[in-house]
Amino acid sequence: MTKVEVRKASVTEYRGELIVVCHFEGAKKLEGAALELDRASGGILSDLLNHGDFTGKHAQVSVVYTRGALPVHRVLLLGLGKKKECDLEKLRRGCSKASRSVRELGVGEFAIRLDPIGATHSLEDLTEAVVEGVLLGLYRFTQFKSADKDGVKDIRTLHLLAASDPEARRLKAAVVTAESVSRAVCYARDLVSTPSNEMTPSDMARRAREAAVSKRVRLTVLGNREMEKLGMHALLSVARGSMEPARFIILEYSGGRRGDKPYVIVGKGITFDSGGISLKPPDKMEEMKADMSGGAAVLAVIRAAAELGLPLNLVGLIPATENLPGGRAYKPGDVLRSMSGQTIEVISTDAEGRLILADALTYAGRFKPKAIIDMATLTGACIIALGDDVIGMMGTDGALKDSLRRAAVETGEKLWELPIWDDYAELIKSDVADMKNTGGRAGGAITAAVFLGKFVGDTPWVHLDIAGPAWLSKEKPYIPRGASAVGVRLMLRFLRDQAGKK
Ligand code: BES
Ligand code: MN
Ligand code: ZN
Repeated sequence: MTKVEVRKASVTEYRGELIVVCHFEGAKKLEGAALELDRASGGILSDLLNHGDFTGKHAQVSVVYTRGALPVHRVLLLGLGKKKECDLEKLRRGCSKASRSVRELGVGEFAIRLDPIGATHSLEDLTEAVVEGVLLGLYRFTQFKSADKDGVKDIRTLHLLAASDPEARRLKAAVVTAESVSRAVCYARDLVSTPSNEMTPSDMARRAREAAVSKRVRLTVLGNREMEKLGMHALLSVARGSMEPARFIILEYSGGRRGDKPYVIVGKGITFDSGGISLKPPDKMEEMKADMSGGAAVLAVIRAAAELGLPLNLVGLIPATENLPGGRAYKPGDVLRSMSGQTIEVISTDAEGRLILADALTYAGRFKPKAIIDMATLTGACIIALGDDVIGMMGTDGALKDSLRRAAVETGEKLWELPIWDDYAELIKSDVADMKNTGGRAGGAITAAVFLGKFVGDTPWVHLDIAGPAWLSKEKPYIPRGASAVGVRLMLRFLRDQAGKK
C-alpha cells in the first residue's frame, strides 16, 4: 500500500514530481491552492481555464508541466464538479481518478493539497476521504502474477500538505485512521480474490490468526469435534460434500469495559459455492470463490477495530466451509437438525449460506449481544431486486437500521431496505420439518432473511445481503473489477459511530 505522509509546506514550496490541486465546476476563478500556484507561476493554471480546456467537471484531470516556474515539475488540476454537490464520495472518486492518472505517468510519489474543498465536512472527514480514495483506487491484486508482467509502477508515497503545525497534527491523526480503514479494505479484497484452492476453511482460520495480532483479540477455531458437540448440524451438513473440513472461527475483541455487551458480526464463509448436489451452471462459477466475502469483511473489521482501538466489545463469527457435491454430500430432501434444535428440510443444497448462518446466529446468542449484524453473499434474488451495486438490508430493529443507513450514506456503500413481514414465513413452511431452506423465486432475498430470523431470538438484528456489490464485473471509481470488500467501511463507520455515542 502507498505510504501517506503529512508535510508542513506550502504548495509553492513543494519540490517533487507532481502536486494535485482542485477546482470546482462553474467557479469563475481559481481558488486556494490552485490560485496560489497560478500566481507563483505566472498563470499556468488560469491558461487552462481561459482556453476552455478545463471546466472542473467531476473527475476531470489535466496535467501541466511547470518548466521551472515552480519547484514542482507538474501540477495536476482535478475537477470536483459543482461545489454545492461535492461530498465525501465525490472526493474519494476524484482523488482515486487523480492518483490513477499519476500512476499512469509513472510518477513514484506525489502531493495533494486539500483546500478549497467545501465546508460541510470536518477537515478530518475530508482527509479520510482523500486518503481512502487514493489508497483504494490504487489497489491491485498481483499476488499470482509473475513479477512486473504488466509494467505498472506502484506509487510509493503520497504527501499531504498542511499549512500549519496544528493542521498537520489534525491531518496526521486522520491519516492514521484512514490508513487502518484502507488497509482493512485491501486485506479483505486480497482474501476474497485468493482462489479457493488457496483459501480453504483452514486457510481462513489461519488468516484469522493474522487478524488477531492485538492482545485484545482472542481467537478460537472450532473443528469437527467441537461443532458436533454443539450440534451444529446445519453447518456440518453443508461441509459433507467436501474433503476440506469446516471451521467455525470466533474472534473476540475487547476494547470496551468488561461486561459491556458486544456487537456480534457474522460473515458467511463459503470458500467455494458449487451449489452442491443442486449444482450451479458452469457459467461464471469461478466467481463463487467470492462466497466468503462476508467472512473476509468480518476478519478485516476485527483487525481494523483492534488497530483503531475502538472502545467497544466486538465479536466476529465466521462459519467456513466449501459447498461441493460428493459421495457423502447432503442432498435435497434431507432433514437437518440445527444447533437451535429446529429442523430444516433441504430443498436446494445451493441455499447453503442460510444453513451455515443459522448455526452461527444461534451461537451468537451466547454472547448476549447488544446487536447482531450478518453480512452474506446470500441470494441472486437480491441482485435482481436491487441491482449489482446495492446491499439489501433486512432486520428487526429500527434504530440499528437507521444507524446503518447513516453509515451507508457516509461511506458511499449503498444500502436499501427490504421488508420482512410475517406473511413471508408462509413461503418457507415445510411438510416434514420446522421449515424448508428455500421459499421459491418470488421474494427470494426476503425469504432467505426470514429463514435467518428464525435463529436470532430477541436480539436486535440486521442482515446485509451483499451478493451484488461484493464482486464487480465492471470497475468503479475506487474499486477495481472483482472483489470490492463491500461492508468493511460500512461496518467500521457504524462501529466508530457507536463508539463515539457513549
Ligand atoms: N452464493 C449464492 C448467492 C450468490 C449468487 C452470490 C450470485 C453472488 C452472486 C447462494 O449460496 C445461492 O446459491 N443462492 C441461491 C438460493 C436459491 C437456491 C434459493 C440463489 O440465489 O440462486
Ligand atoms: Mn449457493
Ligand atoms: Zn452461496
